[in-house]
Amino acid sequence: MTEADWFVALPKVELHAHLNGSIRDSTLLELARDLGEKGIIVFSDVEPVILKDDRSLLEVFKLFDLIHILTTDHKTVTRITKEVVEDFAAENVVYLEIRTTPKTNNSKGMSKQSYMEAVLEGLKSVSTVAVVFSHGVNEKNPFNSDVINNPSSETQEKKIFVRLLLSIDRRETTEAAMETVKLALDMRHLGVVGIDLSGNPVIGKWDTFLPALEFAKTQGLSITLHCGEVPNPEEIHAMLDFQPRRIGHACCFGDGEWKKLKSLNIPVEICLTSNIKTNTISSLDIHHFADLYKWKHPLVICTDDFGVFSTTLSDEYNMASSAFGLTKRDMFELSRNAIDFIFADDGVKRELQEIFASTERKLGL
Ligand code: IMP
Ligand code: ZN
Repeated sequence: MTEADWFVALPKVELHAHLNGSIRDSTLLELARDLGEKGIIVFSDVEPVILKDDRSLLEVFKLFDLIHILTTDHKTVTRITKEVVEDFAAENVVYLEIRTTPKTNNSKGMSKQSYMEAVLEGLKSVSTVAVVFSHGVNEKNPFNSDVINNPSSETQEKKIFVRLLLSIDRRETTEAAMETVKLALDMRHLGVVGIDLSGNPVIGKWDTFLPALEFAKTQGLSITLHCGEVPNPEEIHAMLDFQPRRIGHACCFGDGEWKKLKSLNIPVEICLTSNIKTNTISSLDIHHFADLYKWKHPLVICTDDFGVFSTTLSDEYNMASSAFGLTKRDMFELSRNAIDFIFADDGVKRELQEIFASTERKLGL
């Protein structure tokens, strides 16, 4: 088995993946070509933007505005959800939390709720793998089995657990953020387990989102926050004081912020390629992964936006192993430890532990 194949075979847990950042380039180009033919955009202007490799953090948000023009109708949301899950499953991601910002688009008759229904439709239409996206039977969940898509019989052997996080975009108002939290609560029986705060980190104020996040927390939703993507000590301290269950990135922390993070033991979602390509961290030799790993701080390797940054979770593990001198055993343990930080319940955690135990020997460990 080649090195790259070994990292594909390694069972993996993905906890930080934005739906619209995880679209295949080929799909984006197809959607752009379609809109170009309808005269809505000029394809030749858009093609180089989609194919550009390195982008600053600000350019990334411009690209997202373009992606949202291409993707915001129900059929496309369903299609990209299906493809994203199939792509993760193909590289042996066994548990996936997809996060996405519910969107309103009056011209397409789309509400935040119908957007999420289109996402669920995408989960149900996955055909290459069994998708387990809600657990247990209750009065709101009439399914007597937790596998509710319909894979073909040859693929039924393979399964992926999927849970959903609803993102609040930093451009949103308190009311809009609250609407997202209420939607998450209504959709809990369909596999929605938490809330994410994301979007352009230089836009919006923490106090705007706090009421909705507090409400989500008191209702038992799990929270993860994009934290410290730009230097903003006041906001970073306020976010850590909130005590989310996880944070993403933690790139621009000073000594005081590291001290607080470590004493609170909040797990960090690390996205190496995303940090390097957006130049949030200038090179892997100075990436905070090394220090956090050395101190056994809880962390999990993730992709962020595998389409936008042209990466895969297997590549991220492979890269971390070479950049930080970690053995295959270390990488297996790192991947397995991520089970502790998932937002799904203990039943799922137990099943994941079994999957890891049963593949350990096959991986030559
Ligand atoms: P969506 O929520 O499925 O539309 O995924 C794309 C959205 O995720 C973007 O518009 C941003 O709001 C958010 N996002 C993706 N990558 C990043 C990041 O690196 N930092 C902050 N927000 C991000
Ligand atoms: Zn992110």
